[in-house]
Amino acid sequence: MAIVPSGDRSGSAPRRRPSPAAAPPAPGPEPRLVDPTACDPGGREDSLRPRRLDDYIGQRELKQVLRIAVEATRARGEALDHVLLYGPPGLGKTTMALVLAEELGVRCRITSAPALERPRDIVGLLVNLQPHEVLFIDEIHRLNRVAEEILYPAMEDFRLDLTVGQGAGARTRSLPIVPFTLVGATTRAGSLSSPLRDRFGLIQRLEFYDLEDLQAIVQRAAALLAIDLEPAAALEVARRCRGTPRIANRLLRRVRDVASVAGHGRIGPELVDEALRLHRVDGRGLDASDRRLLTLLLESHGGGPVGLETLAAALGEDPTTLETVVEPFLLQLGFLQRTSRGRMLTAAGRAHLDGDGGERAA
Ligand code: ADE
Repeated sequence: MAIVPSGDRSGSAPRRRPSPAAAPPAPGPEPRLVDPTACDPGGREDSLRPRRLDDYIGQRELKQVLRIAVEATRARGEALDHVLLYGPPGLGKTTMALVLAEELGVRCRITSAPALERPRDIVGLLVNLQPHEVLFIDEIHRLNRVAEEILYPAMEDFRLDLTVGQGAGARTRSLPIVPFTLVGATTRAGSLSSPLRDRFGLIQRLEFYDLEDLQAIVQRAAALLAIDLEPAAALEVARRCRGTPRIANRLLRRVRDVASVAGHGRIGPELVDEALRLHRVDGRGLDASDRRLLTLLLESHGGGPVGLETLAAALGEDPTTLETVVEPFLLQLGFLQRTSRGRMLTAAGRAHLDGDGGERAA
């Protein structure tokens, strides 16, 4: 039996959502309903994730917007409007989807677009949702067209339009599904088709974290991992984690390894420096890939401009990875510039290679 989406609604404007078919969970304190088997079971990152908005450090604007949306939604007894989160990797998009589910008192189902290859993959997820649950789709810009078209009526009207059978015997069936919230995450908001983007009621960008928030995140993680870390040591990790909590937590674990092998109890900033030099993370948090990119620009292209494809080929990197993973923080630091003629090394980038980067890289 073939199941395919029926018709092409790709250009139609999103309509208002109907009222939900089932009662929302009762307000007030609720048990944790995030399904531990559905989200990074036993994963290292999982143990450090904040569970509630109050525990989530940084991203103030995002939290404010979502807090209001959650409160209003709960008061109305509806499913939260669909949310699109975009921004560089490691800034907490998955964490925020889990936090939203927790705040709503529902389960969060986690998947990613490459896992939704066949129509039945997405249909299976949608028909098994409970009312008001959160469906998180990572890398949503990678959804194929068929999966997207299944999502349109599902997001708009909580309905699946399916063609059952093939050829002359094919029939169209419309199947109601429960009201749910789609949380989509992407590092490339610009790659989303506009009909899909238009169906999200809330579209929010995650920003790199500032030093103060990163220091607080490192201190929180150290407490959870029972690591005795001086505040100055937490600040040193914060300085060197590319504005990214996921990297901060990874560096913290590496620092803990060095401290335990060296027999240190309390960890100070000198030990952080020693451990991170060992891992070739320099004083501004640049790693070997970052420095290779900047050095290539300087030494082989006189500082640029150079096209992304040329840089990627020379570095043996995928251009998309370079653009979405490596470059954003270099742009944020002001070490790199994107111009219409290509990438350019800035004066600050040059100074970093000459001084701090050269000295402090392993
Ligand atoms: N761990 C990772 N990201 C975090 C955040 N934004 N707040 C608190 N802990 C975190």
